[in-house]
Amino acid sequence: MRRKSSFPKAMLLATCALTTLVLVPAAARGEGNLTLYCSPQIEWCQLVIAEFTKATGIKVAMTRKSSGETFAQIKAEASNPKGDVWWGGTGDPHLQAAEEGLTLEYRSPRLGELQAWATNQAKASNYRTVGVYAGALGFGYNTELVAKKKLPEPKCWKDLIRPDLKGEVQVADPNSSGTSYTMLATMVQLLGEAEAFEYLKKLHRNVNQYTKSGSSPIKAAAQGETTVGIVFMHDAVTMAVRGAPIKVVAPCEGTGYEVGSMSIIKGARNLESAKRFYDWALTAAAQSLGAKAEAYQVPSNKGAATPPQAPKLGEIKLIDYDFAKYGTSAERKRLLEKWGKEVKSLPQ
Ligand code: G6P
Repeated sequence: MRRKSSFPKAMLLATCALTTLVLVPAAARGEGNLTLYCSPQIEWCQLVIAEFTKATGIKVAMTRKSSGETFAQIKAEASNPKGDVWWGGTGDPHLQAAEEGLTLEYRSPRLGELQAWATNQAKASNYRTVGVYAGALGFGYNTELVAKKKLPEPKCWKDLIRPDLKGEVQVADPNSSGTSYTMLATMVQLLGEAEAFEYLKKLHRNVNQYTKSGSSPIKAAAQGETTVGIVFMHDAVTMAVRGAPIKVVAPCEGTGYEVGSMSIIKGARNLESAKRFYDWALTAAAQSLGAKAEAYQVPSNKGAATPPQAPKLGEIKLIDYDFAKYGTSAERKRLLEKWGKEVKSLPQ
């Protein structure tokens, strides 16, 4: 009796499952959709999703948040992931996400087309992230304000702690911004930790605002709201190209750089779409889109066109930035806590 009654029930269940497969449109099953967490400049994020949808028909829901903020969001959502792919933003928090098991191992067939600095990022994370672009840290200043205030032109990191620049410098908060964390880690590597924190305390006196997003300080400088903005050099180039009176500086002592990265979020609901985006975003064609959005990073695909306006990394004194160390969970947490206690809490 039991066997007899359970058989039709199983059949019924199978039929229901088949009906679901046949009748529910692909979009409702999660195919043909993608939720993208995007950390570079919004104009580039918008162009990338428009072109990806044009190429694949996959619809993208995108939010733009800074690198540190996105990392925190992915971590907070780990038990119920809402995003599929995290595209762009500095590499350190992508490495931290990889180490904490928040992102998925994936080896794109496009890996062979990439620069060594991009595949090194993949190897360091056991293929849980990959480099999509690179850019050097620096600063930009408003030439009109410098002239009006009769300030000597800043050329070096050490110039930014001069007393005559009190209240004249803007930089992001390293907790939310990958740009600013890159600066913190750069100073530690350039000067040694003790001296770096002395430097950051002196810089704190000159800082008029710690912004959430990494590129905001140079937008403020372009508007004449601050004299100096510490940012990736390519973000300062964008302002200059738009006609703002911004001079781009590669600091004389040398500087750090980012390997902007991409990761698939563990538990992605739209995994097939995520992989399609990932593979597409590594193509030379997709990576050549940056300049159209006034994004002047150096692309990681060897065949992609580097915009002529992109700062020439070979001509900048770059430090041998230790991504493996400064992208670890322990080191990033430790430096951010120390910065909060010893620098941000000081009166200005
Ligand atoms: C800008 C830069 C990117 C960088 C990003 C990091 O958009 O152009 O190259 O990856 O900032 O943003 P965040 O707000 O985290 O500093």
